[in-house]
Amino acid sequence: TGGVTTIDPGYKNTGSCESAITFLDGEKGILRYRGYSIEELAEKADFLEVAYLLIFGELPTNEELERFHSDIKSHSVVDDDVKKILDAFPKSAHPMGVLSSLTSALTAFNPTSVDVNSEEAMYNAIVRILGKFPVLVAWTMRKKHGLPLDYGDDKLGYVENVLKMMFKSPNGEYEQNPILVNALDKLLILHADHEQNCSTSTVRIAGSSHAGLFVSLASGISALWGPLHGGANQAVLEMLEAIKEDGGDTKKYMAKAKDKNDPFRLMGFGHRVYKNFDPRAKIIKVAADEVLSDLGVDDPILDIAKGLEKEALEDPYFVDRKLYPNVDFYSGIIYRAMGIPVEMFTVMFALGRLPGWVAQWREMRMRKEPIGRPRQLYIGETYRPFKSIEKR
Ligand code: SDX
Repeated sequence: TGGVTTIDPGYKNTGSCESAITFLDGEKGILRYRGYSIEELAEKADFLEVAYLLIFGELPTNEELERFHSDIKSHSVVDDDVKKILDAFPKSAHPMGVLSSLTSALTAFNPTSVDVNSEEAMYNAIVRILGKFPVLVAWTMRKKHGLPLDYGDDKLGYVENVLKMMFKSPNGEYEQNPILVNALDKLLILHADHEQNCSTSTVRIAGSSHAGLFVSLASGISALWGPLHGGANQAVLEMLEAIKEDGGDTKKYMAKAKDKNDPFRLMGFGHRVYKNFDPRAKIIKVAADEVLSDLGVDDPILDIAKGLEKEALEDPYFVDRKLYPNVDFYSGIIYRAMGIPVEMFTVMFALGRLPGWVAQWREMRMRKEPIGRPRQLYIGETYRPFKSIEKR
């Protein structure tokens, strides 16, 4: 049989580890990072504070946060040779493929493994990737638009710096817009961790072989790219655009989503754990209204999204399957209003999820988890003798 009597496709009913980082209650729609509610963190903390909390377990004091930020800034230079790798990609390359490759390539310019028994070595690896990742994120966007690559501005906050690297014009001008900074900061907090989701489980299992932090993260980026996971935020916008092109005919898409013979799914709906509203979707929906009105953007796509949500929440197919909007349903509407191109949406998800992946990798290594190696139910051929090619 291959050693087991039953299997659990998609690990729907399998717990892979003990973790003290993130708590989810799918029935009640509760999400907490290290015991703090996502609602309070999104309202009262900033992204770097939340990154520190997820990774080290406590909200930082002022001194801890300042040291964390300055250590991150001291590692925000990416080796110039990485640009040669970026140059090799065509402009048409999807930024997620570029980001995963560049993250893996960082191992050529930084220590490949981390001595997890040394707090200092672990800390250095963490601030190194938190410093370099935003640069890589910005470079994937600059590459797509044929804009010069540059480094951040050490005088800026973490999120301000990301926006400036992404949007600064070739002649260096850029005006900070607090609406964009606050919106992105909140979105990154909401994406920062989510217990043992697909990409985090990928980071953990890659790291469980004692592969280094950077390459484990590169594996997570690849898993996140899939349209059933982080790639859904791009797929939602493409779906809403298609509905808009179709004259706003949501009924046609609802029918497609319910048709067993049609592979189309209502993107941004459903969740493995949340069988109630995704608490992040609730916060992002309110934020979408606020950001669009603050920016003076009137986007018909938002109305289509709300119409689709209303229909689905009243439709027995979705109600019976407890399918509600998830984190990806409204986030793209805000990214678009911020001027972030749709192919960059999942890259923004990765930027938010980075501290969660790092925290989970660190916990897995500190707890000396064994290498991940599940079994199977063998359903192939029984023994058969070799057949020479003449007899095949
Ligand atoms: C993220 O896990 C995480 O925490 C992920 C995440 C995170 O923060 O890391 O929250 C981020 O990935 C959010 C999810 C983004 N993906 C999408 O929006 C893609 C659309 N959603 C689905 O493909 C689906 O809902 C999943 C992948 C999210 C969950 O899939 P499951 O748990 O494996 O559920 P399933 O595929 O078994 O579906 C159960 C039923 C099926 O119908 P029946 O066979 O029972 O008749 O619900 C149906 C499905 O066909 N269904 C949908 C649907 N989602 C599920 N039908 C139409 N549209 C959908 N979106």
